[in-house]
Amino acid sequence: MSTGQIEFPVELVSLLRRTSKLAALTGAGVSQESGLRTFRDAQVGLWAQYRPEDLASPEAFQRDPKLVWDWYAWRREAVKGVRPNPGHYALAEIGKHVPEFTLIIQNVDGLHRMAGNQNVLELHGNIQRVRCADCRTFAETWDDDTESVPRCRECGGLRRPDVVWFGEALPRAQLEAAVEAARACDFFFSIGTSGVVQPAASLAFAAHNRGAVVIEINAEPTPLTAKADYAFHGKSGEILPRFVEAVWG
Ligand code: OAD
Repeated sequence: MSTGQIEFPVELVSLLRRTSKLAALTGAGVSQESGLRTFRDAQVGLWAQYRPEDLASPEAFQRDPKLVWDWYAWRREAVKGVRPNPGHYALAEIGKHVPEFTLIIQNVDGLHRMAGNQNVLELHGNIQRVRCADCRTFAETWDDDTESVPRCRECGGLRRPDVVWFGEALPRAQLEAAVEAARACDFFFSIGTSGVVQPAASLAFAAHNRGAVVIEINAEPTPLTAKADYAFHGKSGEILPRFVEAVWG
């Protein structure tokens, strides 16, 4: 089905117009139309080309810090050249209409904030922040293009991106707030995420179990699709603005 053919059910539009509690979880698919690569899409996803255990785990950093540093420096460089797309802006627009809107994000690219989204819970950190791997002190400036991994000015430890790697815990306050929002909302959107990485993936199910209406917007079906009350398949940068226009326009 092309995006142009998607109809938003009248009852959904009318309920959404009146809601005051909405939560949305986003993933790499939301930034795809900005030109950033997703992780799991066949051929083009980052994990089709690289192995997460070589680049996105504490063990990988211990084994070869420079390889990991350079990979994130490369991704940071890619992020520098991109801008939010209509999907990011549509979410910011929802925030203007829904009093309790919580945006829960897995993306580390910073595009949601750049588009003006507020009340953003970053579950997987942010690639634009660098901190010490030992004492956690944040670096204000750093050189991405060095012969060896830069060191912390405070303790001499190695610097690393402030992102969550496989095997690491998510930031506690952000995760707790996300769980709370999922449990309390009337509507939960899952957008541009394959829904296979925990604990983020379980948020939609938590919302569903508490009686929220769950809406999926994704390029293709996911493990959530069967449980979702509504599933719209296509590009989020096309569907979200039309959705926002239909409900709050
Ligand atoms: P994935 O790459 O796993 O999933 C992206 C989803 O977006 C897929 O289901 C695509 O079909 C869909 N998609 C692609 N383009 C789209 C578009 N234009 N509009 C809508 N949907 C689109 O990415 P995530 O689910 O975000 O974690 O992955 C979750 C986590 O796994 C990431 O945060 C990252 C990764 O490993 C860490 O690095 C810790």
